[in-house]
Amino acid sequence: MKICCIGAGYVGGPTMAVIALKCPEIEVVVVDIAAPRINAWNSDHLPIYEPGLDDVVKQCRGKNLFFSTDVEKHVAEADIVFVSVNTPTKTQGLGAGKAADLTYWESAARMIADVSKSDKIVVEKSTVPVKTAEAIERILTHNRKGINFNILSNPEFLAEGTAIVDLFNPDRVLIGGRETPEGQKAIKTLKDVYAHWVSDDRILCTNLWSAELSKLAANAFLAQRISSVNAMSALCEATGADVSQVSHSIGTDSRIGPKFLNASVGFGGSCFQKDILNLVYICECNGLPEVANYWKQVIKVNDYQKTRFVNRVVSSMFNTVSGKKIAILGFAFKKDTGDTRETPAIDVCKGLLGDKAKLSIYDPQVTEEQITRDLSMKKFDWDHPAHLQPSSPTTNNKQVSVVWDAYEAIKDAHGICILTEWDEFKKLDYQKVYESMQKPAFVFDGRNVVDANKLREIGFIVYSIGKPLDSWLKDMPAVA
Ligand code: NAD
Ligand code: UDX
Repeated sequence: MKICCIGAGYVGGPTMAVIALKCPEIEVVVVDIAAPRINAWNSDHLPIYEPGLDDVVKQCRGKNLFFSTDVEKHVAEADIVFVSVNTPTKTQGLGAGKAADLTYWESAARMIADVSKSDKIVVEKSTVPVKTAEAIERILTHNRKGINFNILSNPEFLAEGTAIVDLFNPDRVLIGGRETPEGQKAIKTLKDVYAHWVSDDRILCTNLWSAELSKLAANAFLAQRISSVNAMSALCEATGADVSQVSHSIGTDSRIGPKFLNASVGFGGSCFQKDILNLVYICECNGLPEVANYWKQVIKVNDYQKTRFVNRVVSSMFNTVSGKKIAILGFAFKKDTGDTRETPAIDVCKGLLGDKAKLSIYDPQVTEEQITRDLSMKKFDWDHPAHLQPSSPTTNNKQVSVVWDAYEAIKDAHGICILTEWDEFKKLDYQKVYESMQKPAFVFDGRNVVDANKLREIGFIVYSIGKPLDSWLKDMPAVA
């Protein structure tokens, strides 16, 4: 059997590497139109940072795992074609700012239709609006005689930073297909691939629309939990409750559960906002404005949390950060990834720059080029791949410097904002940090990683999300 995956990104690369590892008799080729990305997959420096990924790729690359730009050849030869291209938020036209942009998906589907000479199972790996399979089916079957295409929905649930662990041991694999004999046969074929390492009870089979919608629903529910706890964090600060204690208390209720209840500066990542906006748009298109508004609120609270954080920083520092150096520790949207898509750090940095702060940014996995690009890019442009974009990043910003050492970022700073929960930020020598900073020295912990009381003993003024406020912060003007 031959598998081809279109899209060598955060999902296509790791997912196919694990399939290749677990199914040595299957040949897996990952193809992409972005030559630099494919070159990186074929080199010692993979294009994405993901713990454990190097090891998996090294074990099977060149044996039964290949990366190629020869998209048409490998699609033509494959029995199963996964499509794992990006499905960003539309930036223009009908549904701009909400609907999923299926340009990349549609062009992949047209190409599959054009080059296929044998029957194929086409698998939606990308996250797509519910009912996309119907449209894809039309593209695939239009004008093609004698070739059978069976469409399956097989959404991916991995989280970045833990992708390999998630793929090795998934909570579930979801496969949706047509309720016809051919559809069921296609489901069985894909199920047999996963059955190499996933037990039968964890492979869920549904109809196409349930599988497509379940992916959007799962992300909406997960993001909703974070917005719920973040909304509580604002109330905690106003009342003297401690959000960690509240999270722990409610998380012990087995109906609520302890996971995904960490208050933060806001959720980021390529999926949550995009997929909820997509869900909102689908609800609106289906005449369900109340349902749309319900989910929209999850995004609004997330935006509120980021704004609230910036306001807290500015108001604590005498209502202005103009000309003050602020160290930004962490730029990735979570630890153990170099991914910055929709990271809350972008909005926080832009907010502080709007108040004329001077930022010194350090993240162990994010390059200066990436940070510069992120801070100069318009909302939603990030997921339209760089190679398809007309403009290159601008480096006009004298207010921003990017450094490769936390202590250098912090030196002479008035304040520190911790925006990613990298483990190394817990282990900094905060006595040394304090001595190198302007006084009063502030720490704004957007991830609740530092021991605030220890830092207060050293002399810092500390703000931790959703925790009782220092008297200094209480005396400053209330934040919106
Ligand atoms: P990505 O941007 O990292 O990768 C997509 C790749 O597809 C890019 O390298 C791009 O060059 C390539 N591509 C686009 N059009 C192409 C075409 N016509 N032919 C060949 N290659 C093409 O995106 P990603 O993060 O891997 O996400 C892919 C999909 O998976 C999205 O729909 C996303 O919502 C979904 N998803 C992502 C995650 C995640 O954690 N990143 C998790 C679950 C699901
Ligand atoms: C998410 C889903 O978890 C995954 O199932 C889906 O396939 C893709 O989208 P990902 O975005 O990679 O995965 O990471 P995730 O761990 O979900 O974190 C998303 C954001 O929420 C991060 O910014 C993270 O810091 C934040 N978060 C997470 C919180 O603020 N608090 C939490 O308790 C958990």
